[in-house]
Amino acid sequence: MPFAIRLARPEDAPLLPDVERSAAHAFVSQKGLAFIASSPPLSVEQHLTFILQQREWLAVDTQDRPLGFLCGQDCGAYWHIVELSVQQSAQGQGLGRRLISEAAVWAREQGFAGLSLTTFASVPWNAPFYVRLGFKQLDPPQLDEFLQRQLAAEAADGLPDRCAMRLDFKVMD
Ligand SMILES: CC(C)(COP(=O)(O)OP(=O)(O)OC[C@H]1O[C@@H](n2cnc3c(N)ncnc32)[C@H](O)[C@@H]1OP(=O)(O)O)[C@@H](O)C(=O)NCCC(=O)NCCS
Repeated sequence: MPFAIRLARPEDAPLLPDVERSAAHAFVSQKGLAFIASSPPLSVEQHLTFILQQREWLAVDTQDRPLGFLCGQDCGAYWHIVELSVQQSAQGQGLGRRLISEAAVWAREQGFAGLSLTTFASVPWNAPFYVRLGFKQLDPPQLDEFLQRQLAAEAADGLPDRCAMRLDFKVMD
């Protein structure tokens, strides 16, 4: 599937909740996680906040329509990926990998030490996918305050089996 990567623009925001809803269908087949498929996506307002800060990238089709997005926030030494979603019909074709690579190039240029995220430890397209991209799962003593709070909030929201991961740019050199 031909696609391009670009920064998201404000007019893209209303289209992005449907991309996330479509992406989340992947969880229907995951034992104990089917509820993720019907969880509310990031709102248009949340997307607009990332977009206005230039912290959201899209994979778009040949008509410039969003197929996937990656958004995140500056969190101290690491740049934190808040959400990565690729719509169901476009999954498994390299868009997620390219979105992460784009964010990594940008974050490195900005002087961040690496990328961080939280994800499901056992879902095949979550932690195992990120491990193949060079991310490492963090043990509790390695968690900074932000990641500790993030995992605690996700546990309080009823999300099971979550882990925090980091990609360190210096290890990649
Ligand atoms: C995770 C996600 C963003 C990856 O995007 P993508 O465009 O499908 O990713 P890519 O095609 O670049 O690579 C997908 C990798 O995951 C694997 N993968 C994708 N779908 C898979 C599936 N259903 N089962 C097992 N592995 C799968 C592919 O084998 C590939 O790994 P490889 O390149 O090492 O072989 C996308 O699958 C998605 O939106 N999933 C639902 C939402 C989600 O889980 N978001 C991440 C939250 S942390």
